[in-house]
Amino acid sequence: MDWGMKNRLSRIIKPDTGRTVMLAVDHGYFLGPTTGLEDPKGTIKPLAPYADALMLTRGVLRTSVEPSVNVPVVLRVSGGTSILKELSNEGIVASMEEAIRLNVAAVAVSIFVGGEYEKQSLMNLSNLVDAGERYGIPVLAVTAVGKEMGRDARYLSLACRIAAELGAHFVKTYYCESFETIVSSCPVPVVIAGGKKLPEREALQLAYEAIHKGASGVDMGRNIFQSESPVAMIKAVRAVVHEHASVEEAYRLFNKLKEETPRREAKRQEAATSFD
Ligand code: 5RP
Repeated sequence: MDWGMKNRLSRIIKPDTGRTVMLAVDHGYFLGPTTGLEDPKGTIKPLAPYADALMLTRGVLRTSVEPSVNVPVVLRVSGGTSILKELSNEGIVASMEEAIRLNVAAVAVSIFVGGEYEKQSLMNLSNLVDAGERYGIPVLAVTAVGKEMGRDARYLSLACRIAAELGAHFVKTYYCESFETIVSSCPVPVVIAGGKKLPEREALQLAYEAIHKGASGVDMGRNIFQSESPVAMIKAVRAVVHEHASVEEAYRLFNKLKEETPRREAKRQEAATSFD
């Protein structure tokens, strides 16, 4: 790995702890106005200072993040589908030159192992790795598995290992039972998605278990930005990931900070437009 590649990765996975708290706010690329992300600028601004990286699309980056914000960006470059169609049918929607112009620290692409367009998604990853190697830009492979397959260690370790074999520099997957077998059979760092919104204590437990079973961090979205107190939640997640906090300590911190910070308005519009 060359100097530029290593330098970009170390901006995301912090060398002092070997871990990262990425904030995923890319959901709109196939889900549209996801609950909590209807106003991306308003959601991202208070959270960005506590994120080690922001994962988003170029559209949200350009419109909703000030260029002066000094947080590394992981640019989602796969897409072209919606929740209404076959999700695995993705292409690459932003070039490596565009990623460089946007000064990103890494690019992200989904792979759909067992999905209808498995090969296409794996070729997306391979082509992106080739381009990333050319310019020193790391590639994050986001693992999804076919609809009929469980999000379990058997399928997720298959997907993570394939991603690493094709050259992904780090991998994002889901937490599951026997998570440690996914990490031990994947030769690149693994971060976890948070998945659907859970009660805060459970989401902190998820982060704790993942970290203690070898994850290099989290790339969490809904469990942060849909929390009743998103800033309190990202700080509590940081305590687990970077500061060895127990679940109880992190949950106490969340509750304390929640009281100190303005509560999110109860604006859950049971939107006809929201699919999350
Ligand atoms: C979608 C993604 C999302 O970024 C991912 O699902 C993370 O968000 P969450 O923690 O809400 O699951 O990569 O493909």
